[in-house]
Amino acid sequence: MSHPAIAIDGPAASGKSTVAKLIAERLGYTFINTGAMYRAITWYVLTQGIDPADTASVNQLLPSIPLSFGKDGSRSTVLYNGQVLNTELTTQEVNDHVSTIAAIPEVRSLLVERQREYNTREAVVMEGRDIGTVVFPDTPFKYFVTASEEVRAARRAAEGLTDSIAERDKKDSSRATAPLTQAADAKLVDTSDMTIEEVVDTIVADITQKLA
Ligand code: CDP
Ligand code: CDP
Repeated sequence: MSHPAIAIDGPAASGKSTVAKLIAERLGYTFINTGAMYRAITWYVLTQGIDPADTASVNQLLPSIPLSFGKDGSRSTVLYNGQVLNTELTTQEVNDHVSTIAAIPEVRSLLVERQREYNTREAVVMEGRDIGTVVFPDTPFKYFVTASEEVRAARRAAEGLTDSIAERDKKDSSRATAPLTQAADAKLVDTSDMTIEEVVDTIVADITQKLA
């Protein structure tokens, strides 16, 4: 029997992680943050002194990368030598280079395989950029969560973080492999004037209706 896969895609700081986590809690599904997986590879490449734009060197590193993708309770984790990575993944340096790493086709195919593995065992709420278009193209549960650029920048600032969101969005939308785009059959949720609870209610209501 196949398990449901809920796909949440959208640009940076649109609220994907926040709402995906809450939707997963409501439904009792596992929350999978795929951005953390791209961030972890970026972090590791940087610790090795490799230029993220040097695709050949990044690809050479991939087969022996000492990262693993696990779970802590009902959410995904990324581990390095058995330690869960957290604050390492959201530094300015990682923000600045993650879109370059995420544009490499070999990086994407490696991670997409890991992402699909989670859903072979359990129901998931997965958030990212290509979940509805590439990872689970056949799922009936696709949501494209967005907000105006001003609102998204203000949300990051309110978190006390500096983030190159406009630049990442541009790179993520223009890459050749799995660009950030709304799947034709995804439901668009513009959260500019919505509270977190309203977004969660809207998406859970749609999922519940489709499951019935
Ligand atoms: O939290 P935020 O939306 O700012 O970013 P994230 O979800 O942590 O993703 C970080 C970066 O990883 C994105 O800017 C993309 O370059 C890349 N990414 C991707 O290419 N595909 C995904 N499914 C998830 C993230
Ligand atoms: O994962 P993504 O980068 O898309 O966004 P996030 O990290 O989940 O959300 C960015 C910030 O916006 C968080 O501080 C959320 O609490 C906030 N947010 C909000 O104010 N209103 C919403 N409807 C959704 C998120």
